[in-house]
Amino acid sequence: MAVLGHVDHGKTSLLDKIRGSAVIEGEAGAITQHIGATAVPLDIISSIAGDLVDPDDFDLPGLLFIDTPGHHSFTTLRSRGGALADIAILVVDVNDGFQPQTLEALDILKRSQTPFIVAANKIDTVPGWDPNEDAPINDTYESQSERVRQRLDESLYEIIGNLSDEGFSADLYWRVQNFQRNVGVVPVSAMTGEGVPDLLTVMMGLSQRYMKEEMEIDVSGPGVGTVLEVKEEKGFGKTVDIVLYDGTIKEDDTIVVGGQNDPIVTEVRALLQPRPLAEIRTESRFENVDEVGAAAGIKVAAPELGDAMAGAPVRVVRDRDLDDVIEEVQAE
Ligand code: GTP
Ligand code: MG
Repeated sequence: MAVLGHVDHGKTSLLDKIRGSAVIEGEAGAITQHIGATAVPLDIISSIAGDLVDPDDFDLPGLLFIDTPGHHSFTTLRSRGGALADIAILVVDVNDGFQPQTLEALDILKRSQTPFIVAANKIDTVPGWDPNEDAPINDTYESQSERVRQRLDESLYEIIGNLSDEGFSADLYWRVQNFQRNVGVVPVSAMTGEGVPDLLTVMMGLSQRYMKEEMEIDVSGPGVGTVLEVKEEKGFGKTVDIVLYDGTIKEDDTIVVGGQNDPIVTEVRALLQPRPLAEIRTESRFENVDEVGAAAGIKVAAPELGDAMAGAPVRVVRDRDLDDVIEEVQAE
């Protein structure tokens, strides 16, 4: 699941709130410069969402959050991040409204036909707002003064209007019956956590439905992914951080990775998994695993990765013809 939106509208903060850490503090000038990935287990989601999410209702292990940069110079990274996700959250600052990269993100979602919801973020900055830490939106909304509610309503309807100008039929999420046809807008604050239970509940619902359809696809097949970053790792040489969005990858698998020149054909030496809730970009303690299934963020150690490129495809060969796989990687 990708998180998209204009610079500073609160994408990273929203993820931080959910995973209870602070990647944003480690970022240069607090501007996200790479795509990140964080696995959030189902029990964490249900503990934040409270009564709204019952873990027994879901057969997903959790959600993989993909953070993307909002700064205008990162168009390609955004479109990669947006395109490799099953579903997305578009973050819009309630006071700032639609901005150039909001529109650009919408375009990416439109083109890749990715189902998404809108997080109308920073509701705590509505003048006069009375914060209720981590409360579901309905509870905190009811406790605001008439004036504050009106102000928030105005901002939300402006966002809904903007979405409709772009050809999306949108409404406040609790009025949406069919999330495939209509875009749900969830008011939230990454600062106070208000509305975050609602956001997670809607995301779980969406991904559950989406994944059910995806289950028809062979999830134990050879892995398919995208390179997030190429990095030197002590004891492993050049490694690639990837998002695996289909199939599995195993130790000793032959893989084909898009390179600066020709595709790289190599063999997986080690698979290094970040701990749950850790952001792959800042994680320092990885666990060595034999096999990983989609969707996951994973560091792959293999020889010859020096020429690998961020954004390039990664494919596991397994029992397929190597030349076919090389051709697929070249074609992407
Ligand atoms: P880029 O990665 O550069 O695109 O930005 P971003 O969308 O990840 O925004 P980020 O999370 O870095 O937040 C930008 C600023 O807004 C930070 O100073 C946050 O503390 C602040 N911020 C984010 N969400 C909220 C919110 O809900 N309320 C308030 N008051 N401030 C927020
Ligand atoms: Mg960010």
